[in-house]
Amino acid sequence: MEHDGISTAKVTVRVNGSSQSAAIDTRTSLLELIRQHVGLTGTKRGCNQGACGACTVLIDDQRVLSCLTLAVQADGREVTTIEGIGDTTQLHRLQSAFIDHDGFQCGYCTAGQICSGVALASEAAAGVPSVVTDDLHADEVDLSLAEIRERMSGNLCRCGAHNGIIAAISEVYGS
Ligand code: FES
Ligand code: FES
Repeated sequence: MEHDGISTAKVTVRVNGSSQSAAIDTRTSLLELIRQHVGLTGTKRGCNQGACGACTVLIDDQRVLSCLTLAVQADGREVTTIEGIGDTTQLHRLQSAFIDHDGFQCGYCTAGQICSGVALASEAAAGVPSVVTDDLHADEVDLSLAEIRERMSGNLCRCGAHNGIIAAISEVYGS
């Protein structure tokens, strides 16, 4: 559909198990859809250009940078944000580990870190190799500290909480 020279489309996305529909400018990012149309603000905008990982969410259980993903690409798919991973009444075990290991300070990067951490565990379980994986044909990749550091290298923390973040992920998913 086109209106005043702007192309619009209706998208329907399941966000944390709830169906959400919106008529949007086709240039709308998934990040904007989540924050501005669905109203879930746990997912953060950092660089808005794919460099920091603050906006990481899951589409069909795989991590994506929502600032670089068009909302129309998620049409008909299942999106999981930090609000769908855990909440204050029932923390995900990785969230509890972040608390135990001081894996955050200001918390701005934390939603993206947690989403990435959850996704990297399923990537390793499915045998998806990283650049530091020795056996490229393994059915499952052991999550050593080197593997976790490499797989989390796209999620930056300006507060410098990386050691706590890696320790938390290692406690929950490490080999
Ligand atoms: S806000 Fe998406 S990568 Fe930084
Ligand atoms: S906790 Fe502040 S940016 Fe990571």
